[in-house]
Amino acid sequence: MKIQIINGPNLNLLGVREKSIYGDASFETYLETLRQRFANITIDYYQSNIEGEIINKLHEIGFSYDGIVMNAGAYTHTSIAIADAIAAINTPVIEVHISNVHKREEFRHKSMIASNCRGVIAGFGMDSYRLALENLTLK
Ligand code: DQA
Repeated sequence: MKIQIINGPNLNLLGVREKSIYGDASFETYLETLRQRFANITIDYYQSNIEGEIINKLHEIGFSYDGIVMNAGAYTHTSIAIADAIAAINTPVIEVHISNVHKREEFRHKSMIASNCRGVIAGFGMDSYRLALENLTLK
């Protein structure tokens, strides 16, 4: 089984950026924990700050992988292009957020991509990614 995790803009700064909201672990460190926990599946990781690169990655893996865990960062709230890319591919996508976006500014309450995703997980810190993987790996 092959799962792709995609992190969008500014998520390369996890562990450095706004620690009171996003915590103090880097994603690379957390990824090791995830790979140990889900040792029987391949977990690939991709991060980009660029909308078009995220779309290219969805096109590249979205017809062959078994699942995608996607934190599109602020593009969640703005990107019709990413929403269209998710609709165009076959692989199911789960939208995740580290923070509870519904507790935050109103502009974070709207997701352009959620309706094209299998589901949304938000507000559990880094554990949001694990919860998404639990679903994608259900037999
Ligand atoms: C985020 C929430 C978004 O609103 C924000 O723009 C991010 C991170 C989260 O994981 O909580 O960059 O997706």
